[in-house]
Amino acid sequence: MIVTTKELFKHAYGKYAIGAYNINNLEQTMGLFQGNLDSKAPFIAQLSKGARSYTNKKMLEAIIRTADEIFPAAVFAVHLDHGDEETCMDCINSGFYSSVMIDASAEPFDKNIEITRRVVDAAHAKGIVVEAELGKLGGVEEHVSVKEADAKLTDPEQAKEFVTRSGCDSLACAIGTSHGAYKFMGSQGLHFEVLVEIQKRLPGFPLVMHGSSSVPQEEVARINAAGGQLGGAKGVDENQFAKAATLGVTKVNIDTDGRLVWCRVHREAFRDDPKNFDLRPPGKIFMKEYAKFIAHKNEKLGSAGQLDAVRVLAARK
Ligand code: G3H
Ligand code: 13P
Ligand code: ZN
Repeated sequence: MIVTTKELFKHAYGKYAIGAYNINNLEQTMGLFQGNLDSKAPFIAQLSKGARSYTNKKMLEAIIRTADEIFPAAVFAVHLDHGDEETCMDCINSGFYSSVMIDASAEPFDKNIEITRRVVDAAHAKGIVVEAELGKLGGVEEHVSVKEADAKLTDPEQAKEFVTRSGCDSLACAIGTSHGAYKFMGSQGLHFEVLVEIQKRLPGFPLVMHGSSSVPQEEVARINAAGGQLGGAKGVDENQFAKAATLGVTKVNIDTDGRLVWCRVHREAFRDDPKNFDLRPPGKIFMKEYAKFIAHKNEKLGSAGQLDAVRVLAARK
């Protein structure tokens, strides 16, 4: 059952966070649905602009529609990740997405509000909800490139004004994370103090944490032992998700960790069976491993075990 992120956030706020997982293909989709059902969790399937054009947006959408049929117990939102205005409008008009992210965070404050407002008006007219972004993450996003040196945490005062003027339904905040496998150097970490100040000014308002992969060191070691070269990769401590949830984070975006699972499975499979050239044996291992990975993340996010309660709420609507 496809629901809006608004419905998911209402149940989660202050207690747990919903996993928002980036998917690109059939194998990830199967693992995603299986892992969320195994851990009894509601979830967000999120598609980036790059994912939509990897094969064809219609192909990816059809895969998700079919997964909804194969796994009728699933409760999830379909979300556009890091959209520009044109892509947001395309998704809003498609009738398939229940949620879009407009990322105009590279624009000046007023311009960011102006663009976000236009997307919000178009989305709300069709019952679709909108995530916006304020502040700058330290990594490289799809159409937004921000140098680590320019990374800028979200200003809590500005956050309040931004939400009021733009009308967005949730806000992605910069709290020290970045996209990809190389997030922190030395003892850097999450800026919880920023979340505390935003929550004071926007009580009950759902916040989003991007760049939340934990880049497990054992995963990196296995990849490197199988021929990879991921030196110095470092991510977010997944044991901090619970604290972030109490401070208003209701959506946690995870992509890189899933890519690491894919990389590890395929490198090990071909290293251990060099005569194999069939895509299905590693594909089968990957779907199982990806499902296990999703279930593990949901335990850390606290969304595991919430599926039945969320389904009852969604069915009442
Ligand atoms: O924030 C970016 C996500 O990890 C999506 O990555 O644009 O390479 O699909 P992508
Ligand atoms: P990671 O690169 O940490 O997985 O972040 C993904 C993300 O924020 C997608 O929007
Ligand atoms: Zn992101």
